[in-house]
Amino acid sequence: MSVPQPPDPIPGARLLFSLDQSVSHLNHGSFGAVPITVQRAQQRLRDEMEANPLRFFTQGLVERIAHTRRHLAGFLGADPDGTALVGNATTGVAVVLQSLGLRPGDEVLTTDHGYGAVDFSVARECRRTGAATRALPVPLTAGDEEVVEIIRAGLRPGRTKLLVVDQLTSATARLFPTAAIVGVAREHGVPVLIDAAHAPGMLPITVASIGADFWVGNLHKWGYAPRGTAALVVAEPWRDRIEPLVVSWEQEAGFPGRVEWQATLDYTSWLAAPAGLYTLRSLGVDRVRAHNAALAAYGQRVVGDALGVARADLPDPGGRRLPCGSFRCRPASPPRSTPPGRSVPGSPNGSPPRWR
Ligand SMILES: Cc1ncc(COP(=O)(O)O)c(C=O)c1O
Repeated sequence: MSVPQPPDPIPGARLLFSLDQSVSHLNHGSFGAVPITVQRAQQRLRDEMEANPLRFFTQGLVERIAHTRRHLAGFLGADPDGTALVGNATTGVAVVLQSLGLRPGDEVLTTDHGYGAVDFSVARECRRTGAATRALPVPLTAGDEEVVEIIRAGLRPGRTKLLVVDQLTSATARLFPTAAIVGVAREHGVPVLIDAAHAPGMLPITVASIGADFWVGNLHKWGYAPRGTAALVVAEPWRDRIEPLVVSWEQEAGFPGRVEWQATLDYTSWLAAPAGLYTLRSLGVDRVRAHNAALAAYGQRVVGDALGVARADLPDPGGRRLPCGSFRCRPASPPRSTPPGRSVPGSPNGSPPRWR
């Protein structure tokens, strides 16, 4: 059997990051890596802020945030008027949950591929309101149609007040058929929140075409934005009902301003985010995706060889159909071990573990 070879690096790409070169960084997804140009762009904004804080915050910051929001929404294929910048995907989820007005008898439906912190948020909101939460088991081997049917069968119209589904799952790296899921939920009158934490930059997405009631994605992973940059996209009928987590001076401005303005914060990560997209586009978005897909396929062969799995039995790493480097997960058996140093919340019924 031939020794797997990694793809050739993208020329010059390594120099764009300040990553410790003595370490093999295998996980960009959890916290991203901010290119040096973007770090500098943010530092210049911080310098501006520190040179005259009063002017920075009171003269034009709201407009600069709106300008950035329009730029990022354009990249995501989202309606800029329905897009609010938030600090991270977790915050976007919390904003949606606490705006729903859940009551006893209501339920929030999730899947067992969901992200642990999001599950905690759903659980807390349900505890607070007297609603219930239910996680649908989705087998690792389920194809798209099966996933849609599992979800269709799991909806309880009238009672299910929100369905939370990941666009690209974290621990299991599944790409869920979000548009089809939204279609089924809509037939049953159930609103959908898509947790797309990993999608921006990694997948060629047009958020508007998914048709979800709520969609949240991080720019600080594959979009090369400084950490603390995410977008919450809300469908038109819901916008007036969305409340910020913290009420501040833009409360009367309505959505999205009142969600974005969270009092005195460092907003420079948002303002520097377009520099991240610029870096990604300079490298070539499709090129980076193809490279990531090739790297993922290479990693899969290395791990497969180490475990003695025949190449022909390896799951499709997905890169050919989806230039994204994610895996469509078809392992012979569910993952058994937990990465060192991570505690994994309970995984009943052999459901997937939930580390990042
Ligand atoms: C599916 C999913 N949802 C939510 C998050 C949370 O992202 P953040 O920590 O930026 O809020 C992650 C983080 O990796 C994730 O993978």
